[in-house]
Amino acid sequence: MSDSLWIFGYGSLVWRPAFPHRARRHAWIEGFARRFWQGSTDHRGVPERPGRVVTLLPDAAMAGHEPDFAPAPCWGTAYEVPIDDPDGVLAGLDHRERGGYDRVELDVFLHEGDGRLPRRPVRGLVYIAHPENENYLGPAPLDAIAAQVAGAVGPSGENPQYVFELARSLRRMGADDAHVFALEAALAARLAARGRSGSR
Ligand code: SIN
Repeated sequence: MSDSLWIFGYGSLVWRPAFPHRARRHAWIEGFARRFWQGSTDHRGVPERPGRVVTLLPDAAMAGHEPDFAPAPCWGTAYEVPIDDPDGVLAGLDHRERGGYDRVELDVFLHEGDGRLPRRPVRGLVYIAHPENENYLGPAPLDAIAAQVAGAVGPSGENPQYVFELARSLRRMGADDAHVFALEAALAARLAARGRSGSR
């Protein structure tokens, strides 16, 4: 039996894990789409002006929202931590993700780094904000999402930084995500038009 567990991050956990880990790997999950449909009132916004951060929606639910939806792997970063969790990583993450996220277990595919696909996935823990949570915002036109992100800031920093860091990390790992990259472009254009730097 393995003495480690895997945690899969697809949002801020991709670029700012902030917890000790034995190893990290590019990884993906299947059956879910990443969308900026979760409101953030505790990290990238405040209750009076929520920001937008990512959550995962089952592919089966997406066709009802986006007629052109095509399932694709959702790339992120998987972190290996000791199964007895001596550093209290899970308690720390439960606290960090308390703004609407539930911890679920899913199949996680670890990228082998040399183009080989893994034969079998590992089980990994993933934080998902389901539509029932009180901060869930749901779909909106891309420009509306960009406008909301552009104007939001919270205790963890400016909301645009979240989008730009996530897009940069995905690009670095060679991962495609049309939704994230489209929002990045819309946001950069909006911030440039405002005379602010969109390159943070
Ligand atoms: C994650 O990164 O996996 C969860 C959402 C977030 O913290 O941004």
